[in-house]
Order: sequence, then C-alpha cells, then structure tokens
Amino acid sequence: MQNNQEIIDATVAYVKTTLEGAEGGHDWWHIYRVWQLSRQIAVHEKVDQLIVELGALLHDIADSKFHNGDENIGPEKARAFMTSLGLPEVVKIHVENIIRNISFKGGHNNGGFRSPELNVVQDADRMDAIGAIGIARAFNYGGFKNRAIYDPTIKPVLEMTREQYKNNTAPTINHFYEKLLLLRDRMNTATGKAMAEERHRFMEVFLEQFYKEAEL
Ligand code: ADP
Ligand code: NI
Repeated sequence: MQNNQEIIDATVAYVKTTLEGAEGGHDWWHIYRVWQLSRQIAVHEKVDQLIVELGALLHDIADSKFHNGDENIGPEKARAFMTSLGLPEVVKIHVENIIRNISFKGGHNNGGFRSPELNVVQDADRMDAIGAIGIARAFNYGGFKNRAIYDPTIKPVLEMTREQYKNNTAPTINHFYEKLLLLRDRMNTATGKAMAEERHRFMEVFLEQFYKEAEL
C-alpha cells in the first residue's frame, strides 16, 4: 500500500501533532533527535531500518510519567496508528515491544524483550539524556516538577538519592547520580558507547564547575 518513505512521513506528521504542547524534554524535538541518532547508529548495525525508525518516532507517544503511570497507553496508541496505516502484525508487535522496553527501568517487568532494533533506539534515547541536551532536559523536567535545582545541605550520594527519589523530592542535581552518569556504561552498541564518551565527559566538567559556583 505504501513505501517506507510514505510510512515514515505519515508517522512524523502524526507524532508532531500528537506531541503539540508536550513538556520541553519530551517534545517533537526530543523525538527528532532520537530518530536521527537512531539512524546514525543503525548505519553500523544489522537492523531493520523501518522498525528502528518507527520505534524511535513512536517511543514517547504517551510517556507513562505523564499518564498516571499507565504503561499501556503508549503502545496502544502506537498500535492504533500503525493499524490505520495498514502495517503488518509483526511490525506492530516489534514496535510495541520497543516502546514497552526502552525505558531505563524497562526490560525487567516486560519479559525482558531484546532485539538489535531496540538496542539502537534505546542507545539513541539514552544519548539524548546525557551531554548538554541531557543537562537541559534534566533541569527542565525538574522545573516542570517544581523541584529544587540543588540543595547544598543534601549531598547527592546514591543511597540518599534513592530514598528521596521515592518521595519525588530530590533536587535535580541528584538525577545525575541516580541515572545520567550511569548511562555511558549501559550503551548497547559499540557506536553508542563511542558517541556517549564526549557527552559523559561534558557532564563531568559541568558538575565540577557547578559545585565551584554553588559552594560559597
Ligand atoms: P527513560 O524513559 O529512559 O527512563 P525518562 O523518560 O525517565 O527516560 O526521562 C526523560 C528525560 O527526563 C531525561 O532527559 C531524564 O533525564 C529526565 N528526567 C527523568 N526523571 C528525572 C528526574 N527525576 N529529574 C530530572 N530529570 C529527569
Ligand atoms: Ni525518549
């Protein structure tokens, strides 16, 4: 019915419309970056290009964080859209699996689905959570949640972070220790690992400067 380019074009249009007004860290431009990074990584991997691109474009179509923790809305919305395009069941299942398993915590409670295509999109999504963009997204998210930027009386160590994280009160700087600084070593692909280096070092430099300015 359609060629791959038409499928991608239709998906881009659908995602842009659906994410209108989304929080800055999860808007169309996050999707755009993850899509482009996925394509770059995919060049070096043996993967199905259409699955990678659909997975990247649809991965945050309804993030559970913004839907009362409901993890089914995203995959269901994606499926309904793919059905409207007449895509085959194998494609729909694979893309749904990518959406369900891409998140930091994902992979444990969803039967541990893995595929080379998921590996690529997950690396791209993680890449956008680190480096300069990652720093901007973290503070934007913290602001959205009305969190403190930094509290010099709370030292960001991992255990304390976990404790506070449960109450959703940890200052945003703690997010670096609970997640952002861990992502470099969690990249799935060799391309992702290499790309993550520069962004990781940038965060280390940022934190060093941050404390120099904050500790007066
Ligand atoms: P994932 O789905 O891979 O776990 P998230 O959707 O949780 O990723 O995160 C999306 C963006 O929001 C990332 O840039 C992440 O750093 C940021 N973010 C998520 N949780 C927090 C938090 N507690 N504080 C600051 N930023 C956060
Ligand atoms: Ni994402």
